[in-house]
Amino acid sequence: MPLLAIETSCDDTCAAVLDGPTVLSNVISSQADHERYGGVVPEVASRHHLELAIPVVEAALSDAGAGFDDLEAVAVTAGPGLIGALLVGLSTAKAIAAPRRLPLIPVDHLRGHVAANFLEPEPLEPPFLCLVASGGHTFLAAVRDHGGFEVLGETLDDAAGEAIDKAARMLGLGFPGGPELERLAADGDPDAFTFPVAMSRDPGLDFSFSGLKTALVYICRDLGEAGTAERAADLAAGFQAAVVGQLTTKLRRALDQEPWPAVALGGGVAANGPLRRAVAQLCAERSLPFKEVSRELCTDNAAMIGSAARFTEPIAYPDYLRFDAFATGPRGGG
Ligand SMILES: Nc1ncnc2c1ncn2[C@@H]1O[C@H](COP(=O)(O)OP(=O)(O)OP(=O)(O)O)[C@@H](O)[C@H]1O
Ligand SMILES: [Mg+2]
Repeated sequence: MPLLAIETSCDDTCAAVLDGPTVLSNVISSQADHERYGGVVPEVASRHHLELAIPVVEAALSDAGAGFDDLEAVAVTAGPGLIGALLVGLSTAKAIAAPRRLPLIPVDHLRGHVAANFLEPEPLEPPFLCLVASGGHTFLAAVRDHGGFEVLGETLDDAAGEAIDKAARMLGLGFPGGPELERLAADGDPDAFTFPVAMSRDPGLDFSFSGLKTALVYICRDLGEAGTAERAADLAAGFQAAVVGQLTTKLRRALDQEPWPAVALGGGVAANGPLRRAVAQLCAERSLPFKEVSRELCTDNAAMIGSAARFTEPIAYPDYLRFDAFATGPRGGG
């Protein structure tokens, strides 16, 4: 019996149908409207989710060859995220589950990013070390079982994705900046400018990306508008290399501190080619298996929420009618 999963924590309206660890359908509708503001506008996102939620759910069911009455449960992202956006997903999930007396499974979005690694093909079994880098979070997760994770180190300021999006904006690229910055960086020289690899002397496993952003502001100011445009590819390459450098430095340090049988990635920044290659190389040096989850399962999607739901306690009807979304919460799904 299939499970329907819904994800609306930010600006993507997502629905997926799963049969255990197998993804039967995975529909993602990204909102283009935020580009002209250079970032996500929460109220605009909520309004779009309202318009898109039901069509996206219907498309996911149709792609899976299933109907509402075939479902055994409905999973939904409960947080963290934009509260208005989350409420649209949660209300949609309740409205589908309640009339059918189906259980509702509220899922932590960050557990979802980790749980993308539990999906077919070749699901990764815990324990493993997972580097999660997304638009709002950056942390190293000790995944000892399917039910959650322990944070070993996290960013003290910006998330890697947030820094990448700001850098992309400074270089005149669209939003979200990650894929465009990666494309531009491919034509640039990563050594043309010096960017600080922050926290490299800090013995811990925390990250920091705000200094990197400031370094780019100063370099762009010195170059001027025309100079920045002319050197945009070199700037993108240098910035990307500094982000990848910091992420892999901390991953290496975590592997030095504790033996792990496998390494995985999660979150939108994990779609970045140079990061994937750097982590693959690090794992090859240590003869460690590296689970390379597909790019579409790194950025926000509902299949990962359905995957985490398999290891989350369902709430029976009617108890979930009072259940609320949360904007922030403890990491690890605790
Ligand atoms: N190829 C890429 N290279 C670098 N960054 C990328 C790439 N593709 C996406 N990103 C970045 O990933 C981020 C989006 O990731 P994701 O969708 O997981 O974030 P989010 O859901 O907004 O945040 P969170 O998961 O922390 O709540 C954006 O910052 C985007 O620029
Ligand atoms: Mg996310």
